[in-house]
Amino acid sequence: MKRHEAIIPLSHDHHQALRFATAMKKNASPTKRALQSLEEKLADAKRTYEIELVPHFAHEEEVLFPVARGYSAELDKMLDDIIEEHRIIREAFENIEEGNLEDNLDRIGNLVEKHVRTEERSLFEKIQEVVPDEKLKEIVGKISPVKDSCDI
Ligand SMILES: [Fe+2]
Ligand SMILES: [Fe+2]
Repeated sequence: MKRHEAIIPLSHDHHQALRFATAMKKNASPTKRALQSLEEKLADAKRTYEIELVPHFAHEEEVLFPVARGYSAELDKMLDDIIEEHRIIREAFENIEEGNLEDNLDRIGNLVEKHVRTEERSLFEKIQEVVPDEKLKEIVGKISPVKDSCDI
């Protein structure tokens, strides 16, 4: 399904988030970002979290999800699950320096990747299917992408 205009900025963020997630995983293909030292990856993860993920989660939780509530029990449940995933991801970033850093970065990469894919493949599809177009039009322009460029 073609992305609704209101949701396109979030999909743009997802493209960036997937690039980040891929580079944090242990089995990452050897891109420049994936080949950073663990110390550099830690700094990258902290920066990406603060600059990209914190505002992105806020856009979803404060702008998109409230207008998507109340149309379908199935969608409401999906929103609850997604918000719980945000909590788990936030916790993983907050505790990134506890224990083994390489494992923590790998876990974060996997969590973020899975989360983004669930939103793109299931949640956003469902939102566009059950939320009236006029409701989604109300939030057009209220969300901007967290980054303008497509490089790291
Ligand atoms: Fe999300
Ligand atoms: Fe998202």
